[in-house]
Amino acid sequence: MSVAEEIFKLKKEKNAVILAHYYVSDEVQEIADYIGDSFYLSKVAKNTDADIIVFCGVSFMGESAAILNPDKKVLMPDMTADCAMAHMADINNIKKMREEYDDLAVVCYINSTAEIKTYSDVCVTSANAVKIVKNLPNRNIFFIPDGNLGRYVKEQVPEKNVILNKGYCPIHAAMTKEEVIKAKEKYPHAKFLVHPECAKEVLDEADYTGSTSGIIDFVEADGGSEYIIGTEAGVIYELRKRKPSAKFHLLSDGHICKDMKLVTLDKVLKVLKNEDNELMVTEELRKAALAPLERMLELAK
Ligand code: 13P
Ligand code: SF4
Repeated sequence: MSVAEEIFKLKKEKNAVILAHYYVSDEVQEIADYIGDSFYLSKVAKNTDADIIVFCGVSFMGESAAILNPDKKVLMPDMTADCAMAHMADINNIKKMREEYDDLAVVCYINSTAEIKTYSDVCVTSANAVKIVKNLPNRNIFFIPDGNLGRYVKEQVPEKNVILNKGYCPIHAAMTKEEVIKAKEKYPHAKFLVHPECAKEVLDEADYTGSTSGIIDFVEADGGSEYIIGTEAGVIYELRKRKPSAKFHLLSDGHICKDMKLVTLDKVLKVLKNEDNELMVTEELRKAALAPLERMLELAK
């Protein structure tokens, strides 16, 4: 039996479901039941009636699944797969901001630790951040941890005072305007699509800016046939499935999230077999981090 066949067999026997982010490797996306962006996967995690969730992604994603669905066992194929940006917010700074502004809303990108979420009023993902910030009653918004997504939201919602934090995604923040210019010279007929975790000078060159699912939906609806992709390489797998006739070029080959690639088929099989690597969140932490996540799901409707 192949590894994939063994996974299918165990999944059925144990009533398990496999969730995968677009950034994990192709072989893992291939065996997943649900593939999506952070927002979509959080909704699936909340609503599944499987007994076990195998989360092919990084720890903040598994944590959110465990917080939203405490009756399920959430298993991580690799417990060390983490998102550097998820730690880039300082609790003392949040407290300081709250003292400074009476009507402050702390808006927390889902790419954050459960502890950081507990100090927040609402979570967002890149797919719903603009909509949620726009609809909050508060004028003063502290957007954590991603400074680039925060700046993008600030530009889209000029009526709010969006205060920025210095966090960043090391993968997206490493993309440069020079790379964009080079890629456009090489592929002059291609449209440039980019994730809002990139720097402003990169976004300024874009034909479309959006989350991973936003980029995928744009390509599906668009009449074009050639695209330069300014996000993590894993998304190409879904893009090719949705539009096999189109050509996709990565901005450059080096923009890989090593943590997402720690998830392999063998590790998925191993956690399914042994039911180890369970993501545990204390009940106190879970309850405190649940409110901003649930508020996101409500406000994004
Ligand atoms: P989403 O488009 O899913 O929000 O992905 C961004 C990301 O970097 C996830 O880690
Ligand atoms: Fe975190 Fe960036 Fe990797 Fe996403 S791509 S998990 S934001 S480090």
